[in-house]
Amino acid sequence: MNVCIIGTGYVGLVTGACFAEFGVQVVCADKDTDKIAALERGEIPIYEPGLDAIVARNLRERRLSFTTDTAAAVQSALVVFIAVQTPTKTDGTTDLTAIEAVAREIGRNMDGYKVVVTKSTVPVGTSYQVKKWIDEEQATAGTSHRFSVGSNPEFLREGAAIGDFMRPDRVVIGADDGEAIAILRDLYRPLYLIETPFVITNIATAELIKYAANSFLAVKISFINEMANLCEEIGGDVHAIARGIGLDRRIGSKFLHPGPGFGGSCFPKDTRSAATFARQAGQRLEIVEAVIRVNERQRDRMVEKITRALGGDARGKAVAVLGLSFKPETDDMRDAPSVDILQKLQQRGATIRAFDPVAMTNAARELPDVTLCKNEYEACENADALVLMTEWNQFRMLDLERVRTLLREPVVVDLRNVYDPAAMRKAGFRYDSVGRC
Ligand SMILES: NC(=O)c1ccc[n+]([C@@H]2O[C@H](COP(=O)([O-])OP(=O)(O)OC[C@H]3O[C@@H](n4cnc5c(N)ncnc54)[C@H](O)[C@@H]3O)[C@@H](O)[C@H]2O)c1
Repeated sequence: MNVCIIGTGYVGLVTGACFAEFGVQVVCADKDTDKIAALERGEIPIYEPGLDAIVARNLRERRLSFTTDTAAAVQSALVVFIAVQTPTKTDGTTDLTAIEAVAREIGRNMDGYKVVVTKSTVPVGTSYQVKKWIDEEQATAGTSHRFSVGSNPEFLREGAAIGDFMRPDRVVIGADDGEAIAILRDLYRPLYLIETPFVITNIATAELIKYAANSFLAVKISFINEMANLCEEIGGDVHAIARGIGLDRRIGSKFLHPGPGFGGSCFPKDTRSAATFARQAGQRLEIVEAVIRVNERQRDRMVEKITRALGGDARGKAVAVLGLSFKPETDDMRDAPSVDILQKLQQRGATIRAFDPVAMTNAARELPDVTLCKNEYEACENADALVLMTEWNQFRMLDLERVRTLLREPVVVDLRNVYDPAAMRKAGFRYDSVGRC
C-alpha cells in the first residue's frame, strides 16, 4: 500500500517512519525545503530517541522518501494523511489555515480513489470541512474522483513516540464508510497482530476522543497541582496523596506528578481549543475551562515561589535553571512552562543562566535574553538560586557539594520534586519543592 503523509513534523515524521518500518511504502511531504533537504541527507530535524535509526534504515531500504512535491506525493498514494500544525489563535479558536491549504492541494491533485485522513488534532467537524475543500477544488479543476475522509487522531508522546506508535494503547479510526475503514484497518494490520485495541467510530466521535483524552490528562495534572498547593498550606506531602489515591485502580497512578503546570505543543492548545469549540456548540466544558485557569495560576505560583527563595525580590539576582524543554527527552519548547516562568522572572529584574541537554537551539529562539551555559555546573556559577525546571535524568544525581560551592547562595527550588527535602537541608541547602514541606 502506498501512503503519503503531508506535514513532516513531530507527528508526520514519526508516523511516516513507523509505517515504513511496518513495510508500507511511504512518502513524507513538507513545504519546508530545508527540513526536507536535511531529511534526505539522513539528518533528523527533531530530537526523538530511536527515530534516526528507523529513518536511516527505511531510507536505505527505499520504503521511505521525502519530498517538497506534495502534488506528486498525493498522486502516488491510496491513503493521504494530513499531519500539519493546528495552533490556537488568541481567541481560543483553532487556526485551520494549514489544514485548508493541504486539503485544497489534495483536491487539485486527485487522480483516483483515495482515503484522506486527518491525523492533526482538529476541532469536531474539521474532517467534513476537509471534504468540502477537496470537493471545491475538484469542481474548479473539473474532476470528480471518488474519495473518503477519515479521522485517525495521534496519541504519541514526544520522547517516547516510537514506542507509542509501535505499541499504542489503542488506535482510533473515525470514518463514515466501510471502504475507508477496511483500508485503514489493513494499514494498521501489524498492530492487530499484537492485539492492539481498535476503536472504530464515526468521524465526529474520533475527532472528539483526542480532545477528551488530552483534556482528561490535563485535569489529572491540574488536580494534583491543586492538591500540592493545599499540602503546602497544611503541611502535607503531595506524593503520599498521589500514591494514596493512585493505588485506587479507578483513579490510576499515572499523571499525578505535581510541578510547574503542563506545557508543550498539545495540552495547552488542545484544552483551549476544546473549551472554545464546545462553547461554540452551546455546551460548555466547565472542568476544562477551570483546568486552563489552574494551569496558568500554577505557573505564576512558581514565579512567586522562586522570588520568595531569592529573598522576596528578584531584582539583580542571577538564577541558574536546569532544563528548558517542556519535559525530558524532547527538544520541544512550544508552550514550555520555562518560557513563561523565566520571562516573568526577567520582568522582575532577574538574570537567567540556563542549561538543557538538547533544547538549547530552540531555547535560544524562545528565550533570547537567557545566558545559555555549557553544562549544569557552569549554569550554577555565582547564581543566587538554582531552579530545577525539567527533570532530565542527568539532573537527578548532581554533585551537590560542587553545586553548593558554585552557587552564591545555597538555594534550590526544585519544581519537579526530584530531590528529598530532608537530605537537601542536611546537605546545607535552603530547599523548596512543590507540595512537600
Ligand atoms: N507533537 C505532538 O506530540 C503531537 C501529538 C499528537 C498530536 N499532535 C497534533 O499533530 C499535528 C502536528 O503536530 P506536530 O507537532 O507534528 O507539528 P509540527 O509543527 O512539528 O509539524 C507540522 C509540519 O507541517 C508542515 N506544513 C505546514 N503546512 C504545510 C503544507 N501546506 N504543506 C506541506 N507541509 C506543511 C510544516 O512545515 C511542519 O513541518 C497537530 O495538530 C498536533 O496538535 C501532535
